[in-house]
Amino acid sequence: MTAKTISGSALAEAQNVGLARRVTAFKSAFDRAPSLHVILVGDHRPSQIYVRNKSRACEKIGISFTLHHMAAIVAQETLINKINALNESPKVDGILVQLPLPRHMDKNAIIQAVVPRKDVDGLHPVNMGLLLAGRPGMIACTALACLRLIHSHLDNITSKDALVIGRSVLVGKPTASLLSNNNATVTLAHSRSQNLPELCRKADILVAAVGKPEFIKGGWIKPGATVIDVGINTIELGDERKLVGDVEFESACQVAEAITPVPGGVGPMTINSLLFNTLRAAENNMSRY
Ligand code: GUN
Repeated sequence: MTAKTISGSALAEAQNVGLARRVTAFKSAFDRAPSLHVILVGDHRPSQIYVRNKSRACEKIGISFTLHHMAAIVAQETLINKINALNESPKVDGILVQLPLPRHMDKNAIIQAVVPRKDVDGLHPVNMGLLLAGRPGMIACTALACLRLIHSHLDNITSKDALVIGRSVLVGKPTASLLSNNNATVTLAHSRSQNLPELCRKADILVAAVGKPEFIKGGWIKPGATVIDVGINTIELGDERKLVGDVEFESACQVAEAITPVPGGVGPMTINSLLFNTLRAAENNMSRY
C-alpha cells in the first residue's frame, strides 16, 4: 500500500476561498478589515519566519496584520501594558504573542494577559478550560488543524481509536481534548510512555507531536491508519539541511492509508486555523458594538 498524502497546503487554499469571502462581507459591513496583532519579542530566527508566514497568509485573504516587535530585553510589565492596550482597543480583533518568549518572562502570565475573546491562539486557560469542558471558545490552532486534516480524509471519527503522542499545552493536550469531543477514543501518550510501538499499532488515528525527527517508524503503525505528523525538525544530510516530521515518512507510507507530509501538511493548516480564529474573533468583536 502507498498512503494517500493529505495535503495541508491544498486544504488551506480551499479553505481560504470561504474565509476571503467572509473577510469581504466583514469589510462591507464594518468599513474596516478584520485585524490580527502579533507581538514578537526578541530575534528568535524560527519565530521571525513563522510570523512572516502568518503575515503573508493574512495579506492573502485581506486580514489586516500588525507586527509589534519588542527587544529581547523588554520588561515584562511593558509587554503586559502593550497587551492591555490591544485588549482595550475596539479595532483590534485578534492578539497573538509569538512563543517562545525570553527566559526572564513568565510565559503563563503573558498568555493570561490576553483577553480570552481575542486569544486567537486558544492558549488562555479560559479557552483551554472551555475546550476541556466540551464547549470550545477559541481552539488552539494546531489542534484545529489536526482535526480538519483528519476530517478531510475521514468523514466520521466516532469510535475510532486515536493516539496523540506529545502532551504539550500548544499541541498535544488540546488535540486530545478536541478529538475526544468529536467522539474518538483518545489515548494521550508522550516520549516517556511505555510500549509506544504497541500503542501505535492500535491507533486508527495517530497524531505525532513529540518533536523528535523520524521517531515513529512505519512498523509501529496500524495498517490503514490516518497519520497526522505535527513535527517540524531540521536534520543535517551531509552538507544539506532537510525538514522532516516526527514520523519516518517513507516507511509509514507503506502501511498507513493516509498521511500528512512535512512540510506542506499541518503547518499550512495551522496558519489557516489562525485566520479562521481571527475572523471569528472579529465577528464576535463587532457583535458587541
Ligand atoms: N510558536 C510556535 N508555534 C506557535 C503557536 O502556535 N502560537 C504561538 N503563539 N507561538 C508559537
